[in-house]
Amino acid sequence: MKIAIVFGTRPEAIKMAPIVKECERRNLNFVTIVTAQHREMLDQKLEVFGIKPGYDLDIMQANQDLFYITSSVINEMKPILMKEKPDVILVQGDTTTTFATSLASFYLKIPVGHVEAGLRTWNKYNPFPEEINRQLTTRLTDFHFAPTEWSKKNLIAEGVDESKIFITGNTVIDALLMIVDPNYRFEDELLNEIDYKNKKVILLTSHRRENFGEPMRQTFSACKHLVETNPDVELIYPVHPNPNVQKMANEVLRGVDHVHLIEPLDYRPFVQLMNKCYLILTDSGGVQEEAPSLGKPVLVLRKTTERPEAIQVGTAKLVGTDKDMIINEAQRLLSDKSAYLEMSTKANPYGDGKAAERIVNIVLEKL
Ligand code: UD1
Ligand code: UDP
Repeated sequence: MKIAIVFGTRPEAIKMAPIVKECERRNLNFVTIVTAQHREMLDQKLEVFGIKPGYDLDIMQANQDLFYITSSVINEMKPILMKEKPDVILVQGDTTTTFATSLASFYLKIPVGHVEAGLRTWNKYNPFPEEINRQLTTRLTDFHFAPTEWSKKNLIAEGVDESKIFITGNTVIDALLMIVDPNYRFEDELLNEIDYKNKKVILLTSHRRENFGEPMRQTFSACKHLVETNPDVELIYPVHPNPNVQKMANEVLRGVDHVHLIEPLDYRPFVQLMNKCYLILTDSGGVQEEAPSLGKPVLVLRKTTERPEAIQVGTAKLVGTDKDMIINEAQRLLSDKSAYLEMSTKANPYGDGKAAERIVNIVLEKL
């Protein structure tokens, strides 16, 4: 039996790495195919986890659009899948690589296993295009690896056969536990020099398509206000390489005292930064899932979320992208110790670090 493991972007690489490692550990017959929808950010992750892909489609272009990604993945995946003839293809999450690969697999009648299945907002354009990527991938999937009870319920509500749904936890926790190291020293001296004990370090990440333009301007302006009005706050933002994000970050935050705009970090330093910071402001999916394991409160810079579990547990709060709202919520966590403690001392609802093992067990058992 042959398993194909496909991914293309930073978060997929992080979340698929534990499955690749589990297949290696068990000496299974598998092939790793990367689309390289992301290039530098994917390569960083391949290196951290020591993964050498069997195939690399190398599709990324500057400022690429969705038509280009979808058509390139479908066209370039075809000959590889026809040659490799896998018995199952594993895809992860909600990217265009995920959806287009599932469609290519369907055209070739190869069963699909979807890792991180069942997350939903039911809002067609938020997150865009990820919500519809997820829904379409579900229709094309044969084995649904739901991270939580809630995601399983969503799939059942859409008519997915319950016997095809497996609650596994999220593989991002497996990845995090493989990488976290409290003694890690940054290679970038700037990150070592920051006084994490006496300063309140805010870690920011923002990259979502639906936040381009005004929402991102509001978010960055709120961050600027927070550092300007709190002398003990430092803000670190590893800026996503998307040109739309770079432009706005440079416009609003470049040159502001106590704001550090840096390159996207390798996974090891990024996890360490999450571990050392005081508070996280993010529109990222993966960061929301990781932060509770490190005891860090998260303010989610989005209107909707397909990850309500952390909000229900109380480690994350949905604050949107309105400048005043972000300032108020962040200020509360900077000034009110009990509000901070309340958000930083809860268990992680997304998994126990054994998701990859469960997924591989199920694949072997079902095929
Ligand atoms: C993609 C996913 C999104 C995911 C995000 C994770 C889609 C449509 N979007 O969004 O779901 O949350 O990845 O980060 O699947 N770029 C580089 N180097 C890189 C990566 C990106 O220069 O390593 C630049 C390129 O100009 C590229 C642009 O960023 O064209 C956008 O990349 P793309 O994958 O289309 O969108 P993301 O916003 O990264
Ligand atoms: N991440 C990283 N370096 C960074 C920023 C994020 O390694 O500079 C990791 C983060 O820990 C998480 C993942 O990238 O696991 C999230 O990716 P992203 O926010 O790009 O995508 P999303 O999860 O929103 O789809």
